[in-house]
Amino acid sequence: MLAIDEKTITDAALEQMSATPDARLKEVMAALVRHLHAFAREIDLTPEEWLNGIKFLTAVGQKCTEFRQEFILLSDTLGMSSLVNAMHDRRALDAGTKSSLLGPFYRQDSPTMPLGSMIAKKGKGQETVMYGRVVDGAGKGIPNASVEIWQPDDEGWYDLQLDDPSKMDLRGRFYTDANGGYYLRTIVPTGYMIPMDGPVGDMIRAQKRHGYRPAHIHFLVGAHGYREVVTALYINGDPHIDSDTVFGVTQSLVVNVNPKDPAAPIPNLPSIQYDFRLAALAGDAVTGRVGADPSQIVKKTADVAH
Ligand code: BEZ
Ligand code: FE
Repeated sequence: MLAIDEKTITDAALEQMSATPDARLKEVMAALVRHLHAFAREIDLTPEEWLNGIKFLTAVGQKCTEFRQEFILLSDTLGMSSLVNAMHDRRALDAGTKSSLLGPFYRQDSPTMPLGSMIAKKGKGQETVMYGRVVDGAGKGIPNASVEIWQPDDEGWYDLQLDDPSKMDLRGRFYTDANGGYYLRTIVPTGYMIPMDGPVGDMIRAQKRHGYRPAHIHFLVGAHGYREVVTALYINGDPHIDSDTVFGVTQSLVVNVNPKDPAAPIPNLPSIQYDFRLAALAGDAVTGRVGADPSQIVKKTADVAH
């Protein structure tokens, strides 16, 4: 019989999993065990500390609902979502717009709106025009591309965080015109703190981090035959532009609010202009979404359980 001790346990665990028929599952689980064990050895983990870790993960799970995804928040605040996004971008056939976090506030059932619509129902905040094109690797416009947008209100709250999270505001889906053009009206967002009322917030406070995200607007852009891109545009000048709590900002996604823009499709309003570039699709559609509509995650889990 194999003597299980501090040195042999890793090989013993790997051996027991070695008959896993799914090759990718086998590879992923073996790497997970190796790294998890190496992590415990590196920090000389005590039983009390491991139990605290398990309590923390339990609290993260218990905080999740159909409207709240604390695990995505954890992935985001540990830099894991940004790492997975960067590796996803590197696998593209040609350079497209860089990915940024989907975050915990995406909903897949956004209302479809005609070009030029206002997405902010309350009408509070500095109105602005958001416009540009969706183009391919050669700069050619892509007609009928889907542009989903979502953002917080002028106080930094998403609709999912308000009294009735089933009501939608500050989100919509638009389709580009024959030249790949899109435009819509919205309000200039402000920066906000990530949700701090759960275990991830406790972690952020324990680490003396500020918890803020710089002002930004989220996008999910896709078209038939192209890789969809999950991204966000960050407003230049925000005080937290260089210290985003979830590591979403990269230079090519920073935009200016232009107070006078003769090219804007709606006159006499400040504007934000941005062209999204979609990479060609190699083979089957791949998703760049680190995360999902929270209600879909809860639904899928429930489907598996029954
Ligand atoms: C967001 O931008 O919606 C977001 C992303 C990560 C964590 C919290 C919020
Ligand atoms: Fe956000």
